[in-house]
Amino acid sequence: MKKRLGPSDRLYPMPVPLVCGGTIEHADACAVAWIGICATDPPRIAIAMRESRYTLELIRANGTLTVNTPSAADAAVVDYFGITSGRTTDKFAASGWTLEPSAVVEAPRIAECPYQMECRVTHEIPLGSHVLLVAEVVESHAEESVLDQAGTKVDVAALDPLVYIAGSREYRRLGEKVADAYTIGKGIGRNQ
Ligand SMILES: Cc1cc2nc3c(=O)[nH]c(=O)nc-3n(C[C@H](O)[C@H](O)[C@H](O)COP(=O)(O)O)c2cc1C
Repeated sequence: MKKRLGPSDRLYPMPVPLVCGGTIEHADACAVAWIGICATDPPRIAIAMRESRYTLELIRANGTLTVNTPSAADAAVVDYFGITSGRTTDKFAASGWTLEPSAVVEAPRIAECPYQMECRVTHEIPLGSHVLLVAEVVESHAEESVLDQAGTKVDVAALDPLVYIAGSREYRRLGEKVADAYTIGKGIGRNQ
């Protein structure tokens, strides 16, 4: 028996990277859970932000941003970036986290985050409470310690990304592997 819960903005689970805008001289970043890949060729990411975010103001100034995936161990810093505004506080100075220049775009990367994407905004779509930024991912970087043995793909167990649970408002980490995707489903319907 399912209970109707009404219209909902909750999807379980959500990643919660830090989105960074501005320049290496003056940047701001905030936690963003309403985010997801929305195209492959070219790769694009969709990011929902409220107009009030100072990070959004800096993103608009040069049309670029970075998406920085933190480790679960850094939940406190991510939360700090999600409850403090760069309008009044230099979050980098306060947290001790640091910026590093991007390879392609003007917006800097957050050095303490082991997986980072450089992006250029291509679309802005007003959606009432939020504006949806669609951005092309023009480069990505991973710390060698979070790469697989071949050194070509991120090993998600090593990355140990922080996960956000809306509703209960809690941070979690990923559980164990369940199966190989695009593979385990092949067995279904074979003998029918
Ligand atoms: C777990 C978490 C998830 C968040 N997700 C979003 C989001 O998806 N979009 C958004 O606009 N703000 C989101 N926020 C709020 C911003 O991170 C927060 O308002 C931040 O202080 C804005 O900082 P800024 O003004 O320096 O940009 C989230 C906050 C937390 C703690």
